[in-house]
Amino acid sequence: MSKITVLTGLQWGDEGKGKMIDLLSPKYDIVVRYQGGANAGHTIVFNNKKYILHLIPSGIFTKNIKCVIGNGTVVDLEALIDEIEILKHEGINLNNRVFLSKDAHIILSYHKIIDSINESKEDKLGTTKRGIGPCYIDKYARTGIKVQDLSHPEKVSKIIEKNLEVLKNSFRNSEEIHSLKIEVILDKLFTNYELIKHLVIDTQDYLYKSYKKGKRILMEGAQGTLLDIDFGTYPFVTSSHPISGGACIGSGLPPTFVDDVVGIFKAYTTRVGEGPFVTELIDETGQYILKKGNEYGATTGRPRRCGWLDLVALKYSCSINGVTSMIMTKTDVLNDFDKINVCIKYDINGKKTDRFITDSELLKITKPVYKQLNGWKYDISKCSKKKDLPKNLIKYISFIENYTGVKIKFISSGPSREQFIKM
Ligand code: GDP
Ligand code: IMO
Ligand code: MG
Repeated sequence: MSKITVLTGLQWGDEGKGKMIDLLSPKYDIVVRYQGGANAGHTIVFNNKKYILHLIPSGIFTKNIKCVIGNGTVVDLEALIDEIEILKHEGINLNNRVFLSKDAHIILSYHKIIDSINESKEDKLGTTKRGIGPCYIDKYARTGIKVQDLSHPEKVSKIIEKNLEVLKNSFRNSEEIHSLKIEVILDKLFTNYELIKHLVIDTQDYLYKSYKKGKRILMEGAQGTLLDIDFGTYPFVTSSHPISGGACIGSGLPPTFVDDVVGIFKAYTTRVGEGPFVTELIDETGQYILKKGNEYGATTGRPRRCGWLDLVALKYSCSINGVTSMIMTKTDVLNDFDKINVCIKYDINGKKTDRFITDSELLKITKPVYKQLNGWKYDISKCSKKKDLPKNLIKYISFIENYTGVKIKFISSGPSREQFIKM
């Protein structure tokens, strides 16, 4: 039986997608990244070694599995080449295993410069400065460069020339923009292209035919639902669709092929970058979670903001993604708490609701209404079976399942591959 599973983050990213994709990969033949770019940082830990992937799907450590970078992504060729080199150096065989969509868009040096200039302003978003937003702007303004365009150097040269002219007019005071030279950009671009050309294929055709042959496909979301350009906390979002619907657009696989959608979330909440965060803990508890959870961005190293689990947001994310089952990660981080809060309602100017809102202005003044649950006060990092789990953790899980109406099928109890419990 063919099978397509989408795994998507239900919070503001960093839910542990990398770890779980790696863990689930042996059941699949192909893993596909469908949106975003090197803003993602997906961590995988095994044999006491930590790997952080930004563009290559997290199935790469599973022997023989194919990894596809889909049309919905924006690709920094330099970052891709670096990642390939690191993996090769680690002895990972990449031959005939990594494919890049001819329809993905290319991140150029000026996209990263624009991102950095915007981030130097007071009203910054707290982006990863990887050029993601500016590249998607070019995509939708139809002034971008697709991978397949690189086989037409003259066309590419004309587009970049035009773009540079517009940029130099828009950023009159930026020395960095004004020192950009088309020859340098083109030279770098085509030198890099030569190095990855052999990876480029028609991934829609490849995925469609693979599905028809009975291959099993795992779709790897980057970022998370609350960072979705439409359904997240706009403008404090990324510029793509991390939600399950984005998996179809970003790969060309039709919605009728998708069998299940696995939603992944942390037992608490984190956010990196600016934007509203209703359950944020700006106190010692927040600091404690930061330290215990080692909550530092895998891409930028920034400390992540930490807070309690927001069930209002989680239920909303389940509905948008059509989540059929969930995975709860970083459960071990809460091992030592006497009491644990979960947010069950929002209080907006005295009005209570259990419906998530995306209005950033209102979210800023929203107060969480908490239900306090008892902690389990037990080190679960060595537990491997459901029967070994403490009663209060089972109650925590049931509370979340009842609130969202979705079953949790795995919990993760540490960063390593073997630290998980099937529920
Ligand atoms: P992703 O972007 O969703 O792949 O997540 P990141 O890799 O950015 O962040 C998750 C972090 O938590 C990484 O450092 C993981 O190694 C780590 N991690 C994943 N699952 C667990 C877990 O269950 N417990 C603990 N303590 N760490 C975990
Ligand atoms: P993974 O896949 C967490 C955040 C940035 C910023 C906003 C916009 O590892 O979960 P961007 O560079 O995309 O324009 O930044 O989105 N962000 C992430 N936060 N995890 C990520 O990816 C993220 N990718 C982007 O911090 O707030
Ligand atoms: Mg991450």
